[in-house]
Amino acid sequence: MSALSFTVQRRQDPASDERRAEILANPGFGVHFTDHMVTATWTKDGGWADGRVSAYGPIQLMPSAAVLHYAQEIFEGMKAYRHADGSVWTFRPEANAARMQRSARRLALPELGEEDFVASLKALVEVDQAWVPEADGSEASLYLRPFMYASEAFLGVRPANVVTYSVIASPAGPYFSGGLKPVTLWISQHYARAGVGGTGSAKCGGNYASSLAGQLEGIENGCDQAVFLDSASQEYIEELGGMNLFFVTKDGQLVTPELTGSILEGITRSSILELAKDEGLEPVERRIPIQEWKDGVASGDILEIFACGTAAVVTPVGELRWEGGTAPAVGGAEGGEVTRSIRSRLLDIQYGRAEDSRGWLT
Ligand code: COI
Repeated sequence: MSALSFTVQRRQDPASDERRAEILANPGFGVHFTDHMVTATWTKDGGWADGRVSAYGPIQLMPSAAVLHYAQEIFEGMKAYRHADGSVWTFRPEANAARMQRSARRLALPELGEEDFVASLKALVEVDQAWVPEADGSEASLYLRPFMYASEAFLGVRPANVVTYSVIASPAGPYFSGGLKPVTLWISQHYARAGVGGTGSAKCGGNYASSLAGQLEGIENGCDQAVFLDSASQEYIEELGGMNLFFVTKDGQLVTPELTGSILEGITRSSILELAKDEGLEPVERRIPIQEWKDGVASGDILEIFACGTAAVVTPVGELRWEGGTAPAVGGAEGGEVTRSIRSRLLDIQYGRAEDSRGWLT
């Protein structure tokens, strides 16, 4: 039973059919938003209430709102896909709901029930379903961004007594505009993304903010993204800040850094670990020294490397750079065979082109 219901107040001035078609023809990523948004409010005394779907627009927040000072905020990222028969589906939303609950516990925010979470997505997608791109094989989707923040106007440092939950939606094309071109990575040695006992495994804005200086350093050194190492020893590979990493090895393994508490438990990551078996690969989660990357591409033990996430799906990784050195790309100019096959396998399920034998679609 869903405890929250969402009243719908349709906006009077939605985008015209022409304007929407123009946006859907070239959506980019994260730049255009649909006509409506979801909001609900939690108070310490009353719990969750006031669920609604209303016009997308500026939010009213006091300058003293706790989130603006202490970053008590979490979010999720997921997509709605249109299938060839016109129906609209989300991928493993219960996994996002569970992760948002874990993030909420870590950031001392209230938990939103799984049914309320899924109901909020359905409410928004139903009202804005014309914004879900057509199933034309172009890999376009409606990106859904649920988020929750401390909206109480109070400067004392304690968990907020008033919290807002919201969902916005954004028609999305590929996250990287260059197609399947491998991304070049910079080893962030001066900046860690997360530390032992910190918030690294929670999906909170602060983790992304702390990744930006490393990413900037990478860009200044001609790279697309940064790879972060564990903060304690600076020896083991963690993640990219917005994506998890995978290595295809010569001996038939698909290896990814194990979840140490400072890595985000990606839903694409866990799905790929399951799909590995369909590829005839052995999925392995373990600590991976950064030296193993450098040595493995030189010796031929590592055949392919890719990054994954909801927004980026599966993206081949190319050259690795660091202060004073580089390690060459493996896998070719459009990603290796396994990278492309796992990517297609996942997309085929999400877009309804392959059987959803695991019941991942809602
Ligand atoms: C996602 O993949 O959905 C994220 O939240 C990460 C961000 C790079 C867009």
